[in-house]
Amino acid sequence: MRYTSKMAGSVRVPPRDERRVRLEEAGYNLFNVPSAAVAVDLLTDSGTGTMSDEQWAAMFEGDEAYAGSESFAELERSVEAVMGIEHVVPTHQGRGAENVLYGTLVDEGDVVPNNTHFDTTRAHVVENGGRPVDCPADGAFDPRSDGDFLGNFDLDCARRVVDDVGAERVPVVVVTITNNSAAGQPVSVANLREVRAFADEIDATFVVDACRFAENAQFVQQREREFADASVAEIAHEQLSDADAVVMSGKKDGLVNVGGFVGVADESLLEAVEQRAILYEGFLTYGGMAGRDLAAFAVGLREAVQEPYVQARVDQVRELADTVEDAGLPVYRPVGGHAIYVDAGAAYDHIPDDQFPGQSLAVELYREGAVRGVELGSFAFPETERPEFVRLALPRRTYHREHIDYVGETAAAVAARSAEAPGYTVVDEPPMKELRHFSARLEPV
Ligand code: F0G
Repeated sequence: MRYTSKMAGSVRVPPRDERRVRLEEAGYNLFNVPSAAVAVDLLTDSGTGTMSDEQWAAMFEGDEAYAGSESFAELERSVEAVMGIEHVVPTHQGRGAENVLYGTLVDEGDVVPNNTHFDTTRAHVVENGGRPVDCPADGAFDPRSDGDFLGNFDLDCARRVVDDVGAERVPVVVVTITNNSAAGQPVSVANLREVRAFADEIDATFVVDACRFAENAQFVQQREREFADASVAEIAHEQLSDADAVVMSGKKDGLVNVGGFVGVADESLLEAVEQRAILYEGFLTYGGMAGRDLAAFAVGLREAVQEPYVQARVDQVRELADTVEDAGLPVYRPVGGHAIYVDAGAAYDHIPDDQFPGQSLAVELYREGAVRGVELGSFAFPETERPEFVRLALPRRTYHREHIDYVGETAAAVAARSAEAPGYTVVDEPPMKELRHFSARLEPV
């Protein structure tokens, strides 16, 4: 028992005929389905959570000044207290922070290793002329793995990259906590320290993508012996203390609907980051956010490291995994922090990868129950070798047990009809392949 609801939104389950039409109209791409036609929306955990009464109260006091906003000062104090970062360059959301930071650090011909690039991260590296290289831990993409920190950065892989292209071509090393694209698996503090040492060896900037830093800290507390007696708040500090810069999307563990920042520890980066931020995001005391957004963000960050919150959060994701697996769909184990990853390759082994079994499964979850997830396999990541995952991400503090039970019933109906699910082919896609899953249209084969 963690929350009571103070505001209610209604849920509508559209009838089966409507769902069929919605799918056709959407080109079998669930990003094109209006949310009013979605019963349980597990597309993302990003910006879709529920704010607390204290956050709403703070919004009324938002200082909308262009320069010197008190709400920005509040946010700075929170970031320093919760994450131990002194310089905060605000942005409208995480990818704004990526644009500002990677535009500063990455040049034509550079290579950027990351435990695994999230789609917008990959796209920003490519946009700046760089080549993203994924260095996930062994077993990170095996749906039946075992391991406490499968999100870790593989240093041997990064060393091979450096041997190959030379240290001068590797200006940045990134670790994403938790590793969203690799089933939301956590990264250990020991691994972060090793990456720090490696970045020093090759004279690279060490960036942590900290979107889900609180969930990561919770796993560290449960699994990394050195931190068994530490609080999540203490670990949150420790795990970011080695980074030169941090990319943050407040839409995840900031517990807000919009917002982000670049956190800068290496002062030699600060001026270039600030100048780019003014150009693309806004003046340095609002960065594309309203004053009230800054105020809610400042409160949300402090709430994210409260143990009852983050414990309930991780427990609910595990409950979803158990429910969907009991319903007959194979789920990636161990369960990550913000989402479950259904192994569509195993569920739909009659569909070849180039006909997107994951997209097919995501479509069937909508067809059966208006449940919306997202494919993160060959469709979303066309140029990389990936398992055929469908991610069901849980918005924070939003859904209750009855929603999870409903997703379980939907999953059971999908599992029962798995042999009938068709493959898909892309009929229209944008020029930038890294981002095609947001807007491409498909049809059944
Ligand atoms: N980095 C990671 C690891 C992310 O998961 C995201 C967003 C971003 C950066 C970009 O942040 O959305 O605020 O611009 N992930 C969302 C998701 C969209 O569904 O996983 P943003």
